[in-house]
Amino acid sequence: MDGRAIPRHVAVIMDGNGRWAKKRLLPRAAGHRAGMNRMIGLSEHVFDCGVQVCTLFALSTENLSRPQEELNGLYALFREYFPRNAKRLHEKSVVLKVIGDRGLLPADVVALIEEGEALTADGGRGILQLAIGYGGRQDILAAVNRAVRQGKEVSMEEFSAMLTTGGMPDPDLVIRTGKELRISNFLLWQAAYSELYFTDVLFPDFSDKEFDKALEAYASRERRFGKV
Ligand code: IPE
Ligand code: IPE
Ligand code: MG
Repeated sequence: MDGRAIPRHVAVIMDGNGRWAKKRLLPRAAGHRAGMNRMIGLSEHVFDCGVQVCTLFALSTENLSRPQEELNGLYALFREYFPRNAKRLHEKSVVLKVIGDRGLLPADVVALIEEGEALTADGGRGILQLAIGYGGRQDILAAVNRAVRQGKEVSMEEFSAMLTTGGMPDPDLVIRTGKELRISNFLLWQAAYSELYFTDVLFPDFSDKEFDKALEAYASRERRFGKV
C-alpha cells in the first residue's frame, strides 16, 4: 500500500458487542469481554500499520443511561484489563489518552485512567485515545463555554484546540462496526472531512484483516475538501 495513503488518525466506533453475544445466546457482558479483547488486539495492529493516532469510542455519554448492571460490568472489565494493558502500551511506546467527562465515571476508574496516562506519557510511537463517557456535542459545548468565559471570539484553530482532542489531528478515517449507519454523537466537529467506512461486522469479529480492508478502502478515496 502506498505509504502516503495511510491515514494519520483513524477513529473507530466499536459497536455490536451486545448483538455478538445475543447471536451466541450469551449475556451482553460476554460480548463486552470479547469486544475488550478485540480492542486490545486492534490497538496493537493499528500502530503496526503506520497509523499515528487511533481513537476508540468505548462508551458514549448516552451509554451511561444503560442499566446500572451493564455499566457495572463494563467498569469491572475496565478495572480488570486497564492496568495490564497500560503497561503493555508503555512497553510499546504508545501514549494513552482518555477523552470524555471523567466526572461521570467512578472515582477508582478515573484513578486508573490517570495512572495509565502518567505511565505512558513519554511514548513516541503513537497515540491511543480512548473515548469513555464521551459525547461530541458535550465536547463542543464545553469548549464554547470555555471560550465564553475567556470573553473573546476564537478562531477555528483556537476552538479546535479547546476541544478534548486539542492538539490531535482530525481523524482521516472514521470506521463504524456493527451495521448501523450513524455517528451516534462521536467526534462531530473533528470528523467534518473524515472519510467514513461502515461495516456490518460486529466489533468482537472486527479482525486485523477487516481493519486492513478499511485501510484499503481509504487508500482508494479521493479527498477533495470541497475543492475541485
Ligand atoms: C458497543 O456495543 C459497546 C458500547 C456501546 C458499550 P453495544 O453494547 O452497543 O452492542 P449492541 O449495539 O447492543 O450490539
Ligand atoms: C455508539 O454505539 C457508541 C459506542 C460504540 C461507544 P451505540 O450502541 O451507543 O449507538 P446507537 O445507540 O446504536 O446509536
Ligand atoms: Mg450499540
